[in-house]
Amino acid sequence: MANSIIIILSILIFSCNLAIFSPVTCSSNNQTNFISFLALKAAIDVDPQGSFNSWNQTTYFCNWNGILCSRRHPNKVVQINLQSRGLVGLLSRHVGNLSFLRTTILRNNSFHGLIPQEISLLRRLEMLEFSNNSFSGPIPRNLSQCSNLVYLNLIDNSLSGVIPLEFRFLYKLENLGLGTNKLSGPISQSIENLTSLIQLSLSYCGLKGEIPKSLAQLQALRYLNLNQNNLTGSIHPSIFNISTILSFVVGSNALEGSIGLSTLPNLRSLLLGRNQLSGRVPISLSNASSLEQLSLPNNFFTGSLSRFGGLSWLQFFSIALNSIKDDISFVSSLINCTNLRVLDLGDNLLHGQIPNTIANISINLYALRITYNQVHGIIPSGMGNLVGLTFLSLSDNNLKGPIPMGIGKLTNLQGLYFVGNRFRNEIPSSFGNLSLLNDLYLDNNNFSRIVPKSLGNCTNLLNLNLSHNNLNGPVPQEIMNLSSISISLDLSYNTFTGLIPFEVGSLINLAYLNLSRNMLSGLIPNSLSSCNSLEQLYLKDNLFGGQIPERLSSLMVLQDLDLSQNNLSGSIPNFLGELHLQKLNLSFNRLQGEVPRLGVFRNKTAISHEENERLCGGLSELNLPPCPSSNSSKKTLSTRLKFFLIPIVTVVALILCLFMFLYRKKPNNNVSSLPSFFETLFLRVSYADFIKATEGFSETNLIGVGRFGSIYKGILDDGQHTLVAVKVLNLIIKGASKSFMAKCSALRNIRHRNLVKVLSVCESIDFQGNNVKALIYEFKANGSLEKWLYHNNEQDISNVEVQNLNMVQRLNIAIDIAQAIAYFHCGTDLRIVHGDLKPSNILLDHDMTACVGDFGLAKIISSILPP
Ligand SMILES: *[C@@H]1O[C@H](CO)[C@@H](O)[C@H](O)[C@H]1NC(C)=O
Ligand SMILES: *[C@@H]1O[C@H](CO)[C@@H](O)[C@H](O)[C@H]1NC(C)=O
Ligand SMILES: *[C@@H]1O[C@H](CO)[C@@H](O)[C@H](O)[C@H]1NC(C)=O
Ligand SMILES: *[C@@H]1O[C@H](CO)[C@@H](O)[C@H](O)[C@H]1NC(C)=O
Ligand SMILES: *[C@@H]1O[C@H](CO)[C@@H](O)[C@H](O)[C@H]1NC(C)=O
Ligand SMILES: *[C@@H]1O[C@H](CO)[C@@H](O)[C@H](O)[C@H]1NC(C)=O
Ligand SMILES: *[C@@H]1O[C@H](CO)[C@@H](O)[C@H](O)[C@H]1NC(C)=O
Ligand SMILES: *[C@@H]1O[C@H](CO)[C@@H](O)[C@H](O)[C@H]1NC(C)=O
Ligand SMILES: *[C@@H]1O[C@H](CO)[C@@H](O)[C@H](O)[C@H]1NC(C)=O
Ligand SMILES: *[C@@H]1O[C@H](CO)[C@@H](O)[C@H](O)[C@H]1NC(C)=O
Ligand SMILES: *[C@@H]1O[C@H](CO)[C@@H](O)[C@H](O)[C@H]1NC(C)=O
Repeated sequence: MANSIIIILSILIFSCNLAIFSPVTCSSNNQTNFISFLALKAAIDVDPQGSFNSWNQTTYFCNWNGILCSRRHPNKVVQINLQSRGLVGLLSRHVGNLSFLRTTILRNNSFHGLIPQEISLLRRLEMLEFSNNSFSGPIPRNLSQCSNLVYLNLIDNSLSGVIPLEFRFLYKLENLGLGTNKLSGPISQSIENLTSLIQLSLSYCGLKGEIPKSLAQLQALRYLNLNQNNLTGSIHPSIFNISTILSFVVGSNALEGSIGLSTLPNLRSLLLGRNQLSGRVPISLSNASSLEQLSLPNNFFTGSLSRFGGLSWLQFFSIALNSIKDDISFVSSLINCTNLRVLDLGDNLLHGQIPNTIANISINLYALRITYNQVHGIIPSGMGNLVGLTFLSLSDNNLKGPIPMGIGKLTNLQGLYFVGNRFRNEIPSSFGNLSLLNDLYLDNNNFSRIVPKSLGNCTNLLNLNLSHNNLNGPVPQEIMNLSSISISLDLSYNTFTGLIPFEVGSLINLAYLNLSRNMLSGLIPNSLSSCNSLEQLYLKDNLFGGQIPERLSSLMVLQDLDLSQNNLSGSIPNFLGELHLQKLNLSFNRLQGEVPRLGVFRNKTAISHEENERLCGGLSELNLPPCPSSNSSKKTLSTRLKFFLIPIVTVVALILCLFMFLYRKKPNNNVSSLPSFFETLFLRVSYADFIKATEGFSETNLIGVGRFGSIYKGILDDGQHTLVAVKVLNLIIKGASKSFMAKCSALRNIRHRNLVKVLSVCESIDFQGNNVKALIYEFKANGSLEKWLYHNNEQDISNVEVQNLNMVQRLNIAIDIAQAIAYFHCGTDLRIVHGDLKPSNILLDHDMTACVGDFGLAKIISSILPP
């Protein structure tokens, strides 16, 4: 009896299905395949798309999802293709039994654990595509036994160790991708034996040492990518001279020496940025007639430039952050580069006057940057012809005179930066035509007279900086009405007069407002209390009178408040101690009465209160007299102090200003600390994209506000209209922690069904060096668990049954969360502690799958030792 059950079971489990296959044909190969497939399926933990549903006994395995059998030899499985199925699990050793496999594609899933050594038994394998997974451990050495391999892609995993020396036997290999892993060691010499290689991608995988000279023997190589490693030494000229090469990418390493380049008629991309390369930019480049991208920023290149007139395919040209000394008139030679889109000459030693022929450079040009050079004279009026421009920066030169009205024709501009020159007279009213502008920076010039009302038509502004000019008259209410200004508005250091317009209350998204050092007067308007995104508010050194309005207590996220050097009177309102202020300056006013003892008032270094009329009480460290008493000797002392203090402060401030002025005029030597244009530019574009995605951070898209930022729903313009949630972190954080972004990048590579995927981390640096950070998450249709647990039933009691979660749903949610945490703790190479697990951080998808999100407080622990 027992025997027969075992027999029946084994027939059911191990043999081919009798109803479909005749028993005679149940050969060992069919059986081996079958067992191997069951093992592959069993090693998968999560299969969200049901890809394995068809892998059952009622269906012949050649008809299974993702399986392809040979046409000539049915039963011989030649291909497994399970790309982009959202699979989570291990790859079973049994894969090695499928000995007829020629193609294995598991791209873009969440396979983790080791790549099994048994894969080397697949001697017929030609294509192995495992990119975008989480495989860890070493690259199996005996993969070299798959001597028919033509295509091997392991990019974007967590593999470690070195590139196996044995790979030299893969002499048929044409494509090798190992980038975005955690490899170590040098690029092995043995790479020279891979003479069929066409594409070699080893970017961002922790390689050290020199680029082996023997690379030059790869005479079929077309694409070389060694970006973002720690490669040192110089690049041997013979490597540059591989005549087949189309794309040569070695940016972000520590390479040095000059580049000995001969004519490369096929070269399309030469990307060498962020190294320590020196010498002249090779003259021979002007003959590389196929060149499309020439990117050399952030190196030590010197001397003058050759003329690039013949490069008619050139699209991207950057020599930023070098020490190139030439006359800016060389741009005249670019007029035949009709495909040019980006021209970045910033941070060099260019001099002379901008030639009027600049007007004839391609109308495709969308970014022009001449920042930090020594260019003088006026802006040629023809500049207005470059109508394709979206980004124009002429900051920090010696340009002067009025700005030509023609700039108003550049209606595609999104960023305009004319900082730190000697422009004078009025700001052209034609700027009002630039309705797409996100950033307008005109600070540190000699602009005078009133601000044109037409700026009120720039309804996409996010940043407006007119500080440090001689502007006068009232602050135009049209500017205060621009509710799009959400990052910064800086009008400080001018001579604006009159009241703060009531319309200031429209700036409901604004994080930074600076009106310091003007001649503004009257009361601080109550409408300012509507600006409840304000984090920094500076009204210092004006003529404001009256009391500090109680209504400002609605500025819940305010961190830094400076009201010093005004005529404010009355007492210090208690709400200032209840806000989460980190700094508060009330000095040089006429405030009196008791100093609160809460919040910011508990930290002596965070507040300034000196030179007020009759303050008392507060914490004892403040050394104020106890409250219901007045001390006249103290007052005379403080008046005397004032006598000395004001001149001293003024002198110190002047010295500081002078120092800052001198400092900013020089190109920065510490190049690594400057944001590269390349990055800023592309983040700008993506920033613009997600302005678009969230419809300009419109209120209808706002889905949540937290203390650390606001969350918007949006649709990415990525061709697929992906729904995303955009979390804009504290818009302005001075010197914000780099480690946070590093952490986010690490977490971005982690994939699990129950983790909210961080799709992108957007970091941009605006002109004041402020970081603007945003995280883009997958959008989860059903919102947070907190909402389901605590809020939904508030709305409508009769609906509780429908709205609330049932027991099964609750259990599933608990299981989902447990799986996410298990994955955090032992599913990846990184050991991660979430640190902030709570219902508001659990998000529910449209089918109520729970995902853990918000890794803001997560800690990465590289390894946990067993106790
Ligand atoms: C495996 O099963 C198929 C389907 O019945 C049969 O046609 C084939 O001959 C078997 N393979 C071998 C190698 O016997
Ligand atoms: C087996 O796979 C077939 C084809 O996908 C499917 O129609 C059938 O329902 C599956 N059978 C079982 C028992 O899962
Ligand atoms: C990766 O797979 C997911 C499904 O898990 C899919 O939505 C996404 O489009 C895929 N990405 C790429 C680049 O193929
Ligand atoms: C398949 O491979 C595994 C692991 O290599 C091995 O243990 C097993 O015996 C093989 N099965 C068959 C049926 O050949
Ligand atoms: C792979 O190589 C290791 C030694 O490096 C050896 O121990 C192992 O048996 C080999 N595996 C296969 C499947 O060839
Ligand atoms: C990996 O996935 C990311 C995001 O899903 C995608 O942008 C990228 O193209 C994928 N890379 C590969 C090699 O599939
Ligand atoms: C690798 O190339 C070197 C020199 O080109 C040659 O001496 C060596 O035999 C080659 N090794 C293999 C395994 O082909
Ligand atoms: C390069 O090396 C430095 C220190 O040696 C290390 O901090 C850095 O992470 C390395 N970079 C890469 C991309 O491996
Ligand atoms: C641009 O092309 C024209 C016609 O091909 C040629 O005459 C002229 O010299 C070129 N100008 C530059 C600066 O290369
Ligand atoms: C703003 O634009 C509108 C129409 O586009 C125009 O009528 C108005 O005069 C402009 N406002 C200013 C102040 O220039
Ligand atoms: C006090 O304020 C200073 C300046 O804002 C800050 O650096 C410091 O961390 C604060 N100390 C405490 C205990 O909050």
